[in-house]
Amino acid sequence: MDQLFNKYNINVPRYTSYPTIMSWNNEKCSSDWTTHVNRQDEIDLYFHIPFCSELCWYCGCNRKITRDSSQIDLYTEYLLKEWKLLEAKSSKVKSVHFGGGTPNALSIKNFKSLYQNIIPESAELSIELDPRTLEEGLLTYLSSKNLKHASFGIQDFDVDVQNAINRYQPFDLVEKVVSDLRSQSDCSINFDLIYGLPKQSIDSIHETIVKVKKLNPDYIALYSYAHLPRMFPAQKLIKDADLKNGKSKRELYEYAKKELESVGYVEIGLDHFALKDSKLHKASLRRSLKRSFMGYTEKKTQTLVGIGASSISEGADFYLQNAKSIKEYFEFLDSGKLPFVKTHLMSNEDKESKRIINELMCNLYIDKRDVQEGTCLNEYLDDKLLEEHGDTYLISSIGRPFLRNIASTFDQYLVSETSFSKSL
Ligand SMILES: C[S@@+](CC[C@H](N)C(=O)[O-])C[C@H]1O[C@@H](n2cnc3c(N)ncnc32)[C@H](O)[C@@H]1O
Ligand code: SF4
Repeated sequence: MDQLFNKYNINVPRYTSYPTIMSWNNEKCSSDWTTHVNRQDEIDLYFHIPFCSELCWYCGCNRKITRDSSQIDLYTEYLLKEWKLLEAKSSKVKSVHFGGGTPNALSIKNFKSLYQNIIPESAELSIELDPRTLEEGLLTYLSSKNLKHASFGIQDFDVDVQNAINRYQPFDLVEKVVSDLRSQSDCSINFDLIYGLPKQSIDSIHETIVKVKKLNPDYIALYSYAHLPRMFPAQKLIKDADLKNGKSKRELYEYAKKELESVGYVEIGLDHFALKDSKLHKASLRRSLKRSFMGYTEKKTQTLVGIGASSISEGADFYLQNAKSIKEYFEFLDSGKLPFVKTHLMSNEDKESKRIINELMCNLYIDKRDVQEGTCLNEYLDDKLLEEHGDTYLISSIGRPFLRNIASTFDQYLVSETSFSKSL
């Protein structure tokens, strides 16, 4: 196993999009996008809310630290402006996801304004919540909508780890928020955890999982800490010397996985877990798991409309990303333009590779008909990362940590990129 870790622990994309954003062709497609959106019967919406009240040192997200509510009110007005420019119909919105940053930086008043102007009451709601900064009454307000899913950024329950990442978040607080939510809503609950953080050990992971199990979320994301201080300077506050790498980092994941499996979770896709017999577990058994920028899901429409700074939109033929900085995002909208700064128009080859990579990342198999001449899987077969089963190659349990490496075989644009994190 050591040899495999040394061989395959290289920088590879996570393939939340294919092609990855670095390879987008930046074809002009802004007006084609609005036409496309308006032709759809159903769309999903994503709102990016970049504000956080404190900086977590490990953070690799697009966020701005502020507690200034007037900035957040102003941002909400720009979300409305962006929607207006798209000229899309609210009645088409099937689902809405709020991601961050911290979506609950928005006040109840801000949410009401988005519901009055954009989101129909029928839309399924999913939201990322920070238990440390919840406005009184917000859970009740959200529960009165069609709330289907709430995700909490937990990362780790160990106090030493929390101090080392500047995210102090007591277990009792999370317990209370989860119990308040459950008393008002039957939405599914996800916890985000990270392995490879400073001060983590097998013992601390054990304690964290005991606490996680007490609260019994339906789903758990167990992300590998991506340490990219050149891209996220705040990560310089975390010393390289305090971090585990390669095999010893992966041991934390394998240990957590064993513990989670022993208390009723099943590993699905890449670094996610679902309670046995939950919707996502059943979808993974049917090989019908889907993936979006927000994680795994059982259903999604063809079209995701991203609203807000840095949001990504996706249609069958397109990817588009909004300006990342709030200032630039505002400037676009002030001049009456949709705020796209990066775009990609999909070729037929792109669509094929995207389909194959998605199947791998979600449902862990390759259809033999998709392996074209010139694509060589022999190394993975020899190393037993893949197993042949009839018309398919399945990812073996040995191969699972190297899912991203195997997916990269189908990436037509792959270049060695230091901006991707290591596979382990
Ligand atoms: C985009 S963030 C937004 C969630 C929310 N702001 C929170 O932290 O409560 C979603 C998740 O990404 C993960 N994450 C953030 N920075 C990371 C990093 N450097 N490496 C791995 N995962 C990271 C965390 O688990 C976080 O909960
Ligand atoms: S991890 Fe989440 S809460 Fe922490 S700074 Fe990043 S976006 Fe904000």
